[in-house]
Amino acid sequence: MAAITRAASASGRAKGILNSYFLRSVSTTSASSTALKSSTEQSDPSPGITATKEPNIKKFSIYRWSPDSSEKPYLKTYSINTNECGPMVLDALIKIKNEIDTGLTFRRSCREGICGSCAMNIGGSNGLACLTPIEPDPKSETIISPLPHMYVIKDLVVDMTQFYSQYKSIEPWLKTKKPAPGGKEYLQTKKDRLKLDGMYECILCACCTTSCPSYWWNPDKYLGPAALLQAHRWIADSRDEFTKERLEALDDPFKLYRCHTIMNCAKACPKGLNPGLQIAAIKKKEITR
Ligand code: SF4
Ligand code: SF4
Ligand code: FES
Repeated sequence: MAAITRAASASGRAKGILNSYFLRSVSTTSASSTALKSSTEQSDPSPGITATKEPNIKKFSIYRWSPDSSEKPYLKTYSINTNECGPMVLDALIKIKNEIDTGLTFRRSCREGICGSCAMNIGGSNGLACLTPIEPDPKSETIISPLPHMYVIKDLVVDMTQFYSQYKSIEPWLKTKKPAPGGKEYLQTKKDRLKLDGMYECILCACCTTSCPSYWWNPDKYLGPAALLQAHRWIADSRDEFTKERLEALDDPFKLYRCHTIMNCAKACPKGLNPGLQIAAIKKKEITR
């Protein structure tokens, strides 16, 4: 509930920050009223799932807030038959949006844990809705709220502007001083390529950063686990020739050293990455540079 309270207070401050980028990213594809059918009429969207099973009615309490309404944030409860949808929380959200409440707003794109857009807080933990199975116990109610400590744009959609600008600040691209050998690409041995494992897989979903207590306290100064993991991805790249400059830029009491190795980030990462470990590796390199 604490996360919801924080998101609720953030949403009050969120008014006026709508912009076209976020509107473009938001799930609106199923908003057509012509698509509405009763749950018994609705054809099963998931292959192999039959609607002939006994109904398994499950409740979802979902954070709702709109900048177009004077109403304060609240939790709205929806009951759906989970035998009529796919197995993941995103399937349930899509079913609710298609059949019950077309105004429910959330981001999603790939449905495969690749794009990172469906990150939200599910049952008290950050995760990707498309990779989080629906809790099978019909008696338990699943609470879904936006990523904690973020400004809310609408319902489950948060403002990622600061997160992306922090990512941009670490200059996430290959920087070299010499031209590529033979005017072609910069080559790397297999051994050096393996050093990027555990970092290149990051999909920038922000589950780690928004679960980090240090980031909650200093979101404007501390870069947070996602940006720092990405920073180390370029520091560790054998082809990059700005390692010294990258380490110098991070040597700051707030940007880097607000990490206190609490490791919430590793627990939250839906890709199984360990940002805390990568931050520790940066700190070690800072000592020896
Ligand atoms: S290990 Fe560092 S980055 Fe990860 S949650 Fe803890 S303080 Fe945040
Ligand atoms: S490290 Fe994991 S949780 Fe953090 S942004 Fe990358 S994929 Fe998401
Ligand atoms: S929809 Fe792309 S990660 Fe969930």
